[in-house]
Amino acid sequence: MDFRHLVSSSDALASITADALVVVVPGESVDTSLDAAIRTLIDDAAAHGDFRFKAGRTLYLHRPVGVKAARLVVVAAGGESIKAFKAALSHALAALKNLGAKHVAVVLAGDAQVGAAHAEALAGAAADATYVYRHTKPSALPAPAMARFSLVCAKAQVRAVQQGLSRGRAIALGVQLARELGNRPGNHCTPTALADQAKKLGRDHTLKVEVLDRKAIDKLGMGAFAAVAQGSAESPRFIVVRYQGAAKTQAPIVLVGKGITFDSGGISIKPAGEMDEMKFDMGGAASVLGTLRAVAELKPKVNVVGIIAACENMPSGSALKPGDVITSLSGQTIEVLNTDAEGRLVLCDALTYAERFEPAVVVDMATLTGACVVALGHHNSGLFTADDALADELLAAGRNALDTCWRMPLEEEYDEALKSNFADMANVGPRAGGAITAAMFLRRFTAKYRWAHLDIAGTAWKSGAAKGGTGRPVPLLTHFVLSHAGWGIPLSSRRRR
Ligand code: BES
Ligand code: MN
Ligand code: ZN
Repeated sequence: MDFRHLVSSSDALASITADALVVVVPGESVDTSLDAAIRTLIDDAAAHGDFRFKAGRTLYLHRPVGVKAARLVVVAAGGESIKAFKAALSHALAALKNLGAKHVAVVLAGDAQVGAAHAEALAGAAADATYVYRHTKPSALPAPAMARFSLVCAKAQVRAVQQGLSRGRAIALGVQLARELGNRPGNHCTPTALADQAKKLGRDHTLKVEVLDRKAIDKLGMGAFAAVAQGSAESPRFIVVRYQGAAKTQAPIVLVGKGITFDSGGISIKPAGEMDEMKFDMGGAASVLGTLRAVAELKPKVNVVGIIAACENMPSGSALKPGDVITSLSGQTIEVLNTDAEGRLVLCDALTYAERFEPAVVVDMATLTGACVVALGHHNSGLFTADDALADELLAAGRNALDTCWRMPLEEEYDEALKSNFADMANVGPRAGGAITAAMFLRRFTAKYRWAHLDIAGTAWKSGAAKGGTGRPVPLLTHFVLSHAGWGIPLSSRRRR
């Protein structure tokens, strides 16, 4: 996919040569600054009830009179925010999806200038609209013809738009990788396959990749991770990927991902309905690889380490049982009251392992609890940290990336729920506050560094007719990494005077 800027003034849009011209209208009307030919078409359609200035409404015109582009799509955004702009683009691109247009030019009507954030939004919307899953469905419809996207801007905005496009393109590649890995079924996306994907990423981008197998995991003393993996015939993989963009001595950002390639629940087995969706239980791991992909494309001056604990959670004669007590890498013992609370068991050893990198900060991502989905639904990831400054950074990264998270409590009072008579802690508390007690469990392994946890159970994939991975929170994490590298967010939409 190819993204470019295209310099044009808003009164010369009719002369743009693209296969399709998309005009995003943020307001309730189009003013006289817009190209006369296009304005006439929009006003006429509105007067005849064929178009309304209401978010998501689109108007499609083929070979419109007085316009060079063969196709014109007008879409209302219902506001000036970047979020509204991106949503409008998604509607417009959906209208073009099954048509012949290869080169799509996008213009924002009205008096706001497009900037880096618009450009980034365009790249994201374009990548979303053109992704097709084929790995186990070669009969899927051919990918949309759209392959080149241009954002129309004024001369003064070229630099900002270029920056936004390259950032958006990199994030889109990372999102695409995370989506694809999530969508692959458990018998294809095994722990070994995930490790192979990490190695491929390493080869393509010269990242250092290290993979530990079951023997090495046992030898290190990762008793909690090994305990989850022991019920499956698939060998676990502990994967470490390193991006070095700054001096070796600079403390890295460590990203830790839950990589359960299938979560049956184990002996505490899940009900059959929707169990297939537990192939997405490696969404945290996928977002680590996706973020490293985006970071490797952009090459910021910062060090990043990705850590993935990948295994299956299966019931069998060798599986972990309720009541078993296991010893984590940290030395703390854990009474397993529910084998379906396996994510925290693989993560706790990965979090302890992270200490060896003397990290500047550690963020873990996990499809950890159904309780988080109950609390927040599917729009926001759950953010848990005791570090207010870190919380603010992650919240801002999410807002800037249009991949938001919402802060949840993480206070001493919740810790009591994890008391056990037979070990240092139990792996579950009562149902109430389940997302918080899961985070409290992880917190016990993170005393040595700044840490935050993202529960992405509600955001990493979609159910229903559009079932599939979302690639979240790759955009949030990429923004977070870039902000640590000192890449500020340029002003997105400065007003014209
Ligand atoms: N992978 C699941 C969490 C999950 C459930 C994500 C539903 C998305 C949708 C996790 O391993 C799990 O099973 N968690 C349990 C924890 C419980 C046993 C304390 C849950 O949420 O039910
Ligand atoms: Mn589970
Ligand atoms: Zn799980």
